[in-house]
Amino acid sequence: MKPKVLITRRVPQIGIDMVAAHCDIELWDSDLPIPRATLLEKVADKDAIYCLLTERIDDELLDAAPNLKVVSQMAVGFDNIDVAACTRRGIPVGNTPGVLTETTADFTWALLMSAARRIVEGVEYVRAGQWVTWGPLLLMGPDLYGATLGIVGMGRIGQAVARRAMGFGMRILYTDAQPIPGVAEEFGAHYVELDQLLAESDFVTLHTNLTPQTYHMIDAAALQAMKPTAILINAARGGVVDHDALVEALRTGQIAYAALDVTEPEPLPADHPLVHLPNCIVVPHIASASIATRTKMATMAAENLLAGVRGEPLPNRVNP
Ligand code: DGY
Repeated sequence: MKPKVLITRRVPQIGIDMVAAHCDIELWDSDLPIPRATLLEKVADKDAIYCLLTERIDDELLDAAPNLKVVSQMAVGFDNIDVAACTRRGIPVGNTPGVLTETTADFTWALLMSAARRIVEGVEYVRAGQWVTWGPLLLMGPDLYGATLGIVGMGRIGQAVARRAMGFGMRILYTDAQPIPGVAEEFGAHYVELDQLLAESDFVTLHTNLTPQTYHMIDAAALQAMKPTAILINAARGGVVDHDALVEALRTGQIAYAALDVTEPEPLPADHPLVHLPNCIVVPHIASASIATRTKMATMAAENLLAGVRGEPLPNRVNP
């Protein structure tokens, strides 16, 4: 009998086809997340789940899925998964590291440049028919070239962001749990404590995992420590930033601008102040959304899942 698999959303077809070639699949054939109650019902007879960061994989779900042999997530981040609970039950958890590094770094720069050079405001201005002349004072913003970039979290994506910063002649500061070997030599990046990074950076970009330690790491005090001209970029996880504090900081001019790919919660309600502040850009968690990268993520998730149902080691496993 073929293993039974639940795929929790429409994903790139190649991922579905790879799994369907070896398993009986049930696809939640929608662009919207599967409701929790339906998810709990559908996992009851499944050997494997191919899931997204929108599904909470916790003890309740694992109790509802007594046959589960593998959890394969089509994402690199896995803060939606109780990995310890999976480990206790001997269930491997797969993710998709590496393939989205460059794509996410590219997008970080798109956000950074859009915020600095006020691209979204410019587009809105033209669309509103307000463009009547060339203006010497119109929509001015800071230069990137020669500015100081502060990278919070110098993992794969942080390093890919640093590599691009070299082309802009930037001074690079970074912080992490400890200095990362080689990055000083490769990018000329200086390891500093978070306080110093916040105080000295013109751009602060977040690339840390969401953990209990990093939850609301950028809070009112952190925002207060930043320059009034600083721009904050978040392409990591929304929970790293205290959104109430960010609204206040943007409204009162404690910082100049924010550009967010990720929010807390997701989706951010359309009437949330961050959506409407003129000095904030919010986009719907699309940093990894290049066609090639989403295709690779879908195939990696399928490879992890197929290894799991065969009882083989997952090519990319997050639990020991
Ligand atoms: C991830 O993979 O964790 C991103 O946030 C979505 O691609």
